[in-house]
Amino acid sequence: MKVSVVSRSGREVVRGGVELKDSAKVADLQDAIYAKTKKYYPARQRLTLPIQPGKSGKPVVLSAKASLSEYCEKGSGSLTVVFKDLGPQVFYSTLFFFEYLGPLLIYPMFYYLPVYKYFGYEGERVMHPVQTYAMYYWCFHYFKRIMETFFVHRFSHATSPVSNVFRNCAYYWTFGAYIAYYCNHPLYTPVSELQMKIGFGFGILCQIANFYCHILLRNLRSPSGNGGYQIPRGFLFNIVTCANYTTEIYQWLGFNIATQTVAGYIFLVVAASIMTNWALGKHRRLKKASTVSFFSCAEVLNNVIIAQIY
Ligand SMILES: NC(=O)c1ccc[n+]([C@@H]2O[C@H](COP(=O)([O-])OP(=O)(O)OC[C@H]3O[C@@H](n4cnc5c(N)ncnc54)[C@H](OP(=O)(O)O)[C@@H]3O)[C@@H](O)[C@H]2O)c1
Repeated sequence: MKVSVVSRSGREVVRGGVELKDSAKVADLQDAIYAKTKKYYPARQRLTLPIQPGKSGKPVVLSAKASLSEYCEKGSGSLTVVFKDLGPQVFYSTLFFFEYLGPLLIYPMFYYLPVYKYFGYEGERVMHPVQTYAMYYWCFHYFKRIMETFFVHRFSHATSPVSNVFRNCAYYWTFGAYIAYYCNHPLYTPVSELQMKIGFGFGILCQIANFYCHILLRNLRSPSGNGGYQIPRGFLFNIVTCANYTTEIYQWLGFNIATQTVAGYIFLVVAASIMTNWALGKHRRLKKASTVSFFSCAEVLNNVIIAQIY
């Protein structure tokens, strides 16, 4: 089978195309492109079918595991695919490790080191118990996320563009420093003991629930990451599609009830709006993929509760 590999502008990416067996898979084509270009390894490649003239919409993305013949028109022994370079890639675990490592290290720096003298605050700093518990809570959260990245999640994609490392690190590291600065500040005023206990108690319960949600998601896939996207069931997934995001948002709410800083609440609002968007997108995708009507009133109720946070 002759496969022509062109860019979106129609330029030939592999001069003369690629000759493959009729039984070849898309992964074989990716290997052949890499062998010829010496630059675009398979994870960097996005292969789609050309959009027919006069038609609009999203192009069909070729699945690495599928046979090339599935994408050929019946009887034709040739195929044209559109190639896009996704840029240098990093493993998902590397991306997550670096984005979580920042807040895990930055927050204790504000707690332990005399950083506030560089902001004009001289003299002895008296730490309130809530500031100490907040530091442990924060570090436990990010430590848990690193451990989940390596030992719990079963990612469907092996890699992500390297540019995402800079974007995600900027987000997590900046918010980490911003919240740490105010929570450990020498002029910090603690909330009442009861409020602190309610906040941390609720937050810890939500972190445990969040961990359990991740275990349920893990069990939807085989160890190699196969299994695609399925409707998660059991525990809080019976009432909300993305219970992992719900529990994540509520655990930050618990942290903020206990620590009560504007910086913390701003992070909560930003994180909640990001996760609500993702949750709505995932809910739509799962509903579309399933023939079963899966619209949950609890999802709406959840979003109303989230909206009240703003
Ligand atoms: N504070 C914040 O701003 C913030 C933002 C986002 C996330 N988080 C936290 O970080 C955690 C991880 O977030 P994430 O967005 O990277 O991943 P995620 O969507 O929570 O998913 C975690 C893992 O489960 C898999 N998965 C998700 N839905 C699935 C389904 N329907 N069927 C099969 N597998 C499924 C994912 O696979 P894929 O590899 O295919 O995605 C991924 O490996 C969240 O649960 C949350 O606790 C925090």
